[in-house]
This record gives sequence, C-alpha cells and structure tokens, in this order.
Amino acid sequence: MRPVTCLQACRPSVPLGIVTLCLMARWTFQAQGEVSLHVPQPNVNTTVEQNILLSVAYTCEGTPIIKWKHTSPRGTTEIAEWKPGSYTNISISYEGRVNVYENGSLQLLKVDLRDSGYYLVTVRDKSGFTIYGTILLNVYEILYEDLHFVAVFFAFLTAVSAILICFMWLCNKSIHLLQERQQLKASTTEETELQMMDVS
Ligand SMILES: *[C@@H]1O[C@H](CO)[C@@H](O)[C@H](O)[C@H]1NC(C)=O
Ligand SMILES: *[C@@H]1O[C@H](CO)[C@@H](O)[C@H](O)[C@H]1NC(C)=O
Ligand SMILES: *[C@@H]1O[C@H](CO)[C@@H](O)[C@H](O)[C@H]1NC(C)=O
Repeated sequence: MRPVTCLQACRPSVPLGIVTLCLMARWTFQAQGEVSLHVPQPNVNTTVEQNILLSVAYTCEGTPIIKWKHTSPRGTTEIAEWKPGSYTNISISYEGRVNVYENGSLQLLKVDLRDSGYYLVTVRDKSGFTIYGTILLNVYEILYEDLHFVAVFFAFLTAVSAILICFMWLCNKSIHLLQERQQLKASTTEETELQMMDVS
C-alpha cells in the first residue's frame, strides 16, 4: 500500500521537501481512487403523506453502484440498488414508492410514520472503493397547531353549548307547561267532584 510506504519514508531526518512530495503523491493517489459523497441535508423532518428527496451527490471516476438501505428499530431493509444508465433494482417492498436519480439521490413517495429512521447510502466505484452516507428522516403526524384550527374548534364548542342551553331551556319550559296543565286538570276534577256532591 502506498500510504504505508509514504509514512516509512517520511522520517524526521528527511528534508521537508520530500515530506511535501510524499504528501502530494499520497493525495494524488487518494484523489484518483476515491469516491466522494456530498450529503447537503443529513437530517430531514417531515410530516406523513409528503414526498421526500433524500438528496446526495457523488463524484467518482466511471459509473458507481449506488445502494440505499433503511434502518429503524424494526430492522434493516434494502431499498434499491442501481447503476446509473445500466440497471435499477428496487426491492419488492418499495416498488412504486421510490424514484432514483443519477446523482445517487432517492425519492420516497407519500412517507409513512414507519419510514422514520436512518437511510444509509453506499456508493461503490468499479475498483471497489466504497463511501457511505447517512440521512436521518423523522416523519411526524400532522399537528393542528395553526390558529385557524383552534378558532374553528372554539366556534364549534360555542355552537354546541348554545344548542345545549336552548335545549335545556325548552325542556324546562315544557316541564312547566306540563305541571300547569296537571294542576289545571286537578282543579277541574275537584270542581266536578264538588258539582257532583252538589247534585246529590
Ligand atoms: C428536525 O427536528 C429535530 C428535533 O426533533 C431538530 O433537532 C432538527 O434540527 C430538525 N432538523 C431540521 C432540518 O429541521
Ligand atoms: C440530485 O438530483 C436531484 C434530481 O435531479 C436534485 O433534485 C438534487 O438536488 C440533486 N442533489 C444534489 C445534492 O445535487
Ligand atoms: C435484484 O435484486 C434481487 C433480489 O435482491 C436479486 O436477486 C437480483 O440479482 C438483483 N439484480 C441485480 C441486477 O442486481
């Protein structure tokens, strides 16, 4: 391996120029073989039913193989593996739910609470160099924290209480009416009884 040779060569006794040369050689060596991966947003927060782009971009010599996995407390699931311009392999459980992009990005359609967790992306170039990236996705339920909802809710409560008050008032009124009617009935029977007594 080149880096090991470099370390052995770069003894303190060796002039600084050679050290620099060694480092430069090592840097060139790495730049040729390595793949690099840019993850602009490693933490994504969203709500259910949204379409989410897990955005990454790689730089690599030739065309790499890209692989995405999902890890959550439920376990690890393979999502997709593809080689841009060559093939795309999407696992059965994600069929129709994902879109893949040439830059390595993955789009999840209509996310669910269960889609929360870590997404691990692997980019492997033709010589086998591999680089990893992770994105943490948090999927939340829709929260009705906007004032509009609160206002509507209070209006609804007011309407319900108004209806209840009306209903109670009506009940009260009808009970009174019934009582009055019964009293009237009682008094009329008394009267007829009195009349009957008179007759006899
Ligand atoms: C997502 O939410 C967490 C807290 O739940 C917060 O720490 C983080 O900064 C948020 N990320 C983004 C990109 O908004
Ligand atoms: C990758 O490609 C997608 C689709 O073209 C784009 O929306 C996204 O921004 C790209 N990601 C990066 C990190 O450039
Ligand atoms: C696609 O995935 C299936 C199941 O994981 C596997 O059997 C198959 O070999 C893969 N195809 C390619 C082209 O990678």
